[in-house]
Amino acid sequence: MKLTRRSFLKASAAAAVMTAAGINPKDKSLFSTANASNEVDKWTKAPCRFCGTGCGVLVGVKDDKVVTVKGDKKNPVNKGFLCVKGYSLGKLMNATENRLTKPQIRRNGRLVETDWETALNLIAKKYRKYIDNYGPDSVSIYSSGQSTVQEGYVLSKLMKGAIGTNNLECNARLCMASAVGGYLTTFGKDEPMGCYDDIENADLFFIIGANMAECHPILYARVVRRVRNSDVKVIMADPRETRTHKISDLDLFMKPGSDVALLNAISYVIIDEGLIDEDFINKHTHLKQNGKEINLDEFKSFLKDYTPKKAAKITGLDPKDIRKAARMFADPKRESLSLWTMGVNQQVQGVFINNAIHNLHLLTGKICRPGSSPLSLTGQPSACGTAREVGTFTHKLPAHRIVANKKHREEMAKHWGIDVDKIPSKPSYHTMAMFEAINRGDIKALWVTTTNPAQSLPNFNKYRKGLEDVFLVVSDVYPTETTKYADVILPSAMWVEKEGVFGNTERRTQHFEKAVDAPGDAKPDLWQFLEVARKLGYGDLFPYKDHPEREIFEEYRECTLGTGKDLAPYDAYRQKRGLMWPVVDGNETARRYVAPDDPYVKEGIEFYGKPDGKAIIYARENKGPAESPDEKYPFVLSTGRVVEHWHTATMTMQVPELKKAVSETYVEIHEDDARRLNIRSGDIVKLISRRGELELKAKIGGRGVPQPGMLFVPFFDRKRLINLVTIDAVDPSSKEPEYKICAVKMRKA
Ligand code: SF4
Ligand code: MOS
Repeated sequence: MKLTRRSFLKASAAAAVMTAAGINPKDKSLFSTANASNEVDKWTKAPCRFCGTGCGVLVGVKDDKVVTVKGDKKNPVNKGFLCVKGYSLGKLMNATENRLTKPQIRRNGRLVETDWETALNLIAKKYRKYIDNYGPDSVSIYSSGQSTVQEGYVLSKLMKGAIGTNNLECNARLCMASAVGGYLTTFGKDEPMGCYDDIENADLFFIIGANMAECHPILYARVVRRVRNSDVKVIMADPRETRTHKISDLDLFMKPGSDVALLNAISYVIIDEGLIDEDFINKHTHLKQNGKEINLDEFKSFLKDYTPKKAAKITGLDPKDIRKAARMFADPKRESLSLWTMGVNQQVQGVFINNAIHNLHLLTGKICRPGSSPLSLTGQPSACGTAREVGTFTHKLPAHRIVANKKHREEMAKHWGIDVDKIPSKPSYHTMAMFEAINRGDIKALWVTTTNPAQSLPNFNKYRKGLEDVFLVVSDVYPTETTKYADVILPSAMWVEKEGVFGNTERRTQHFEKAVDAPGDAKPDLWQFLEVARKLGYGDLFPYKDHPEREIFEEYRECTLGTGKDLAPYDAYRQKRGLMWPVVDGNETARRYVAPDDPYVKEGIEFYGKPDGKAIIYARENKGPAESPDEKYPFVLSTGRVVEHWHTATMTMQVPELKKAVSETYVEIHEDDARRLNIRSGDIVKLISRRGELELKAKIGGRGVPQPGMLFVPFFDRKRLINLVTIDAVDPSSKEPEYKICAVKMRKA
């Protein structure tokens, strides 16, 4: 692998991100659709529909069709580049053959086409009946980090302000919740302080639990360009070797579930070798263990359980490499940027790992300055803007407010013009608990929008019965595993078939116009929500008329002012290539918590999410995963993504080139294990966990190589559902499931 580093770096970074199976990056045919011509009637700008990077796309439209897409050179996120998924957006918008174009309802066990009035009346009738007979907590909505800001805001108002239930959750619970928990506990406020521009200013990249080359290709391209400067170093901490490792200077292939031990050991060395910034620690932090204040000496003695030697036993790493990593990270001459995503968040220790990453930055003072920051990467285009910021979770209210806070409830009741008692003060169910409540029959109606829980919920065998029995509404663009269980299917408008706003990883809020009509009778989710709200009798709360997207955004914007996540007026987003919040007096904020960038800070650094302005360094124990391998189930199974497909591949499987590139999932096996079990690449093997089983093809070598004893399965394939095998254990504080670790056995099928 190392030999290829030099040649890899020489190749164009843009080509690197197009590395998809069987797709030539120079082949322009992916960018245009069959009816493309040189001329387009108009170009409109939009953030990409896929990942949380939020690349700017220019959409070329002719005769009400998207005929081509290109990267938006004016957008600072991607500066004109797109990855293979972004380039396929034109094809996607023309993949109408399988689109849902008519509402459907279930009659005598079969889904039949109907008209909007019938479908929406049925939903309103059922929701009204359950609310009246069993109370507001008998109905629920499960939404998405792909919902627009406006859609999320209307859902929050409908559920919490109108119906009066906190039964609103969203799929970012499966994804970002532990990152949220980390930022909240350490800094008192969610979301990163840094931004993508830190990539061009960093001298050291610490990439942990992230396969950026496949999951955040455009950010990876930016890292690759930066790394061409030979003084810039990369540390990769991951149990599986991936394409991202091509730029790595130091590989830390730790055992799954040992992240906290590794990070604590790095902290140990940083303190032990005097690499801390004591002045920063005194001024801007305090330290805590099990809820109690401790001092630096006590923290140091806590870390004695994680000397490199002791941590080596837990992590399987060479103690010398741990020391090396600590010295590289803490080198006072370097700006250090940590990047992580699902490898960290999707563990039962997810929040603790996040805390332990933040610790490295706080101990060394490498934070809130260009190039030095802990920056968690987001998976969905508006996991930040909608799920986290509007707050489509059971415990949240718009603009980072929480239901448990009386003042926050009062503020929102005032904004919404409702009685404060309408908003329940206690969160009801986090996602997994919500599906348990559905299993029990406590929740009788569920509306799923823009997400696919039948393919994405872990341990799905346990939750299938609930989906079969509950009154299930699904809004989506193509048939999915979840629409199979629906009682009502609502065909939705997709991406630039509607208008909306997304918020990306770096706090950048981006607007997109409607560019083309949706096929058939498909309608925007926003319209669907508003129609049902009115049919339920809450029309007064949703009086939007001429331009709902604008009116709703302006109403939401009012809720953000003065909270630290201030948004700009709607028109600013229509003109600009996004703005990073807080936006005060028209100025965006590249770096939070530091003057003069952040208008909320007068001078120096202030972590104003905490009452005393100080962040917290936490002493966190390494506890290991919920389910460790044993004699009966000797392998660790991890799951994840490939560059060609996006999450459950509802959309990407509709693009012929992407479908052809990777048409089915597989299990990556280390060659030692394969040899021992006499398994060859292409053999069909069976994975069996305590919860379920799956047959799929073995893959030995290739783009990903797990350590011996570990297996890896991409989760995009609806014909081979790995979520029948995964575990539904959750992080006790973030409630995010542990998709990255469970125990399985494997045999030839
Ligand atoms: Fe779209 Fe993400 Fe690819 Fe950018 S990196 S083009 S946002 S999928
Ligand atoms: Mo996550 S896929 O960014 O909600």
